[in-house]
Amino acid sequence: MDIQTIQQQGIGVFDSGIGGLTVANAIHSRLPNESIYYFGDTDRIPYGTKPVSTILQYCLEISQFLLEQGAKIIVVACNTATAAALPQLRATWPGTPFIGMEPAVKPAVKASRTGKIGVLATRTTFQSTRYHSLLRRFAQSYQCFEDPCIGLVELVEAGRWSDPETEALLRSIIQPMLSKGVDTLVLGCTHYPFVESLIRTIAGPDIEIINPAPAIARRVEQVLTEYHWHCPSKNSGGQKYWVSGNKDTMEMALEGLSLPPSNIYRFQAQ
Ligand code: DGL
Repeated sequence: MDIQTIQQQGIGVFDSGIGGLTVANAIHSRLPNESIYYFGDTDRIPYGTKPVSTILQYCLEISQFLLEQGAKIIVVACNTATAAALPQLRATWPGTPFIGMEPAVKPAVKASRTGKIGVLATRTTFQSTRYHSLLRRFAQSYQCFEDPCIGLVELVEAGRWSDPETEALLRSIIQPMLSKGVDTLVLGCTHYPFVESLIRTIAGPDIEIINPAPAIARRVEQVLTEYHWHCPSKNSGGQKYWVSGNKDTMEMALEGLSLPPSNIYRFQAQ
């Protein structure tokens, strides 16, 4: 394929549901010329409580689908899917750059003054070798308090971003961390930025909250520059969204973001 054709292709982004929209939004803000092809696996969410082999299978299917739609690179906008599948995705499609996500432990230890950080992620992410290697490399002399936030992804996916049950759950997670002296919180699941304002209310103004989405958008820009794959003209293909299940929350989520609205298609599995 010639380079001009590749430049016009979109950036594939996927997640188990709406969470990756927080990343797609950051990519769109930084790279408004680029088309984004987004896939939310809303029929099979949550990933964070499923076995790694199942998540890997889903990631292979979705990546195949996004490549068939003409994605030039793929952002795995899900910490859980990255932990479960990134090396295998890269090995399966060596000609396609895959960008993954992991809890922002490195920036968190830099930001922390107390040496105590709180990490909010899913159970599968916490159990992964990828996460343990992160801790070994960057947080040996720090105290990390982890919580798998059981039930939070489902509340976010249901659009209950500011309701009392969500607030009570977040309080039960964050307050014990604060009382141990945590001064930095890592949003290690792409669904959690949807409840960042609740987290801010609970944590107060002095706590650093780290959402890695802008850093991922910078990484996408670097990769496009490296490959000379930037789209030279604005938004040639437009945005496209697919869901495997319910699309109501996706519609609602898109209203609050700066991503241009577009049709949301139902993906029919073979
Ligand atoms: N958004 C995903 C992540 O970043 C996980 C949500 C899920 O459990 O499906 O880990």
